[in-house]
Amino acid sequence: MFGKRNTPIGTSKEVAAQKAESTAVVAVAPTAAAPAAQTGARSGEMDQRLTEIKLSVFNDLMATVDLGEFAKLDHKAVREAIGEIVAEIINMRNLMLSAAEQQSLITEICNDILGLGPLEPLLARDDIADIMVNGYNKVYIETNGIIQLTDIKFRDNQQLMNICQRIVQAVGRRVDEASPICDARLADGSRVNVIAPPLAIDGPALTIRKFKRDRLTLDKLMSFGTISPAGAKLLEIIGHCRINVIISGGTGSGKTTLLNCITNYIDRGERVITCEDAAELQLQQPHVVRLETRPPNLEGVGQVTMRDLVRNCLRMRPERIIVGEVRGPEAFDLLQAMNTGHDGSMGTIHANNPRECISRIENMIAMGGYSLPAKTVREQIAGAVNVIVQASRLRDGSRKITHVTEVVGMEGDVVTLQDLFLYEIQGEDAQGKIVGRHRFTGLRPGFYDRVRYFGKERDLAEIMESTSA
Ligand SMILES: Nc1ncnc2c1ncn2[C@@H]1O[C@H](COP(=O)(O)OP(=O)(O)OP(=O)(O)O)[C@@H](O)[C@H]1O
Ligand SMILES: [Mg+2]
Repeated sequence: MFGKRNTPIGTSKEVAAQKAESTAVVAVAPTAAAPAAQTGARSGEMDQRLTEIKLSVFNDLMATVDLGEFAKLDHKAVREAIGEIVAEIINMRNLMLSAAEQQSLITEICNDILGLGPLEPLLARDDIADIMVNGYNKVYIETNGIIQLTDIKFRDNQQLMNICQRIVQAVGRRVDEASPICDARLADGSRVNVIAPPLAIDGPALTIRKFKRDRLTLDKLMSFGTISPAGAKLLEIIGHCRINVIISGGTGSGKTTLLNCITNYIDRGERVITCEDAAELQLQQPHVVRLETRPPNLEGVGQVTMRDLVRNCLRMRPERIIVGEVRGPEAFDLLQAMNTGHDGSMGTIHANNPRECISRIENMIAMGGYSLPAKTVREQIAGAVNVIVQASRLRDGSRKITHVTEVVGMEGDVVTLQDLFLYEIQGEDAQGKIVGRHRFTGLRPGFYDRVRYFGKERDLAEIMESTSA
């Protein structure tokens, strides 16, 4: 059935020679990204003996099957076929394996051939936020806000590069010395970035922001302590009452998650247009147009920037515009949109506090080459943005909403801000976990009239009274 199958299973030496020939096949899908060290390094899980058996079985398998034939079958059929052949090899070679060991061997070999090799077990876990591969022998993960090194390793940088290549090829891109930086997405929606040598000095660096199968909602954020029930209600009101929001936060602080949660409260009848570098948002409304930027092709043409998308949005009769991440001159266009009747537009910005968020916007506008006086830019910001929601990852790994801050207006040359809702750190418990509390400052929001217009003033008054200091 599989072409080379009639070849007798050879001795280890013959197999090694055949293997050397077959490595040329590596880059096509399915790929024979030889597994070896991937399991070898998992000292706790599989001992040296198993690693050797795996390598020898893998080599025999490669000598026996034709990967081209596998490419024509679906994954389930390939897994079944591999299972049968591996069982046969184990029998013929008289290898001593328990049923569990045999099963794990088959799974790992299938992962190498069909999937993302050593990364497969990590991709299958839903408790991991990020997978960070720094060259073949260092794979870090982030769980519960804490980054830790795993014992997973690739055989070498070539195997890692093959896997990176396979990921980006699936979305019609390529990564090599000529174009060593690439953004992509896995089939499940996880966001991927690859940067290859020579830019990455110690081997390819692969970063995966894992897609959460269980979408985080404000209720879940409440149960994690990210926000209090009253604070969650405030965000719900902000989302519903078409208030212009910027979500500010550091890397991985939960900005996109929060944006997703707030968009939940957009009325189902509204026409929403989203612009992202890699589509991550999962809006539940029916009337949504999703747009994605495009990098230049190999000839350096065809790029579509975030700015192009935001500008184009304005011609698409949007009611709200949502920009996944504002990082450049598109800030100006988003402000324009917010100022010209697209109330309830939103975006995220990398900044460590609301004040810094304002200066980041100013800088981004300056990057666009506008020679506007600083005061004019600030007036533009003060007129456009109603609220800044600040997300933070604290030193104990927990994620918190630390501020809901209102942009009130201008005083002289300065944009005035007022905090409506804050997280106050009170100390640490015995386990080193930060202890604190969320509270309203008691200040009446400037957007009160708008909330009243949407009939939510009672809700607002209730939550503010409940936890004001
Ligand atoms: N409040 C939270 N509690 C626990 N995990 C969270 C919370 N918010 C977000 N996460 C998880 O943290 C990871 C990072 O979240 P998210 O993508 O929203 O961050 P980000 O600030 O947008 O990151 P980036 O700067 O890379 O765009 C995700 O895996 C997400 O599921
Ligand atoms: Mg994000």
